[in-house]
Amino acid sequence: MRNQIIYTVTIILMLISCESEVKKESKTEKFVELIIETEQETKEEITVKSKFASIGCIACHQPKSKIVGPSLETIATAYKDNKEGLIAFLNGEGEAIVDLNQTAIMTPFIETTKAMDEIERAEIAAYILSGKY
Ligand code: HEC
Repeated sequence: MRNQIIYTVTIILMLISCESEVKKESKTEKFVELIIETEQETKEEITVKSKFASIGCIACHQPKSKIVGPSLETIATAYKDNKEGLIAFLNGEGEAIVDLNQTAIMTPFIETTKAMDEIERAEIAAYILSGKY
C-alpha cells in the first residue's frame, strides 16, 4: 500500500514537471518569435524611412515642423483612420485635404508615388500614419 502511494505520487510529480517543461518551452518559443517579429518590423521601418528620404519627400516634409510642405504629423492627423484616402491621394486619385493653397507644389511629386507599385504606396502611407519617423 505504501509503495503504491509512493509510486502514484512519483507519477504525478513526473507529469507535473513534464507539463511545466512544455510551458517553459512554449514561452521561450513565443519570446523568440517576438524578437524575430520586432526585428522584421524595425527593418521595414528603416527601408520605408530611407525610401521616403531617397525619393525626396523629406525635403519638404519633416516629421514635426512645416518647412515647404506640411509636417508628417500634420498629414497623419488629417488622414487619421483614413489610410485608404491617403493611398488614393498618393495614387493621384484623391483630392488634397491638408493645405489647399499649396497643392500646385505637391502635384508633381504625386507622379513619384503613382509610379510605385501598390505595396510600396501602402508602405509609404503606413509610414506617414505611423507617427514613428
Ligand atoms: C517641393 C516640396 C514637396 C515635396 C518634394 C513633396 N511634397 Fe508632399 N506636399 C507639399 C506641399 C506644399 C503640400 C501641401 C499641399 C497639399 O496638401 O496637397 C504637400 C502635401 C502632401 C500630402 C498631403 C496631401 C493632402 O491631402 O493635402 C501628402 C500625403 C504628401 N505631400 C506626400 C508626399 C510624398 C509621399 C512625397 C515624396 C514622393 C512628397 N509629398 C514630396 C510639398 C512637397
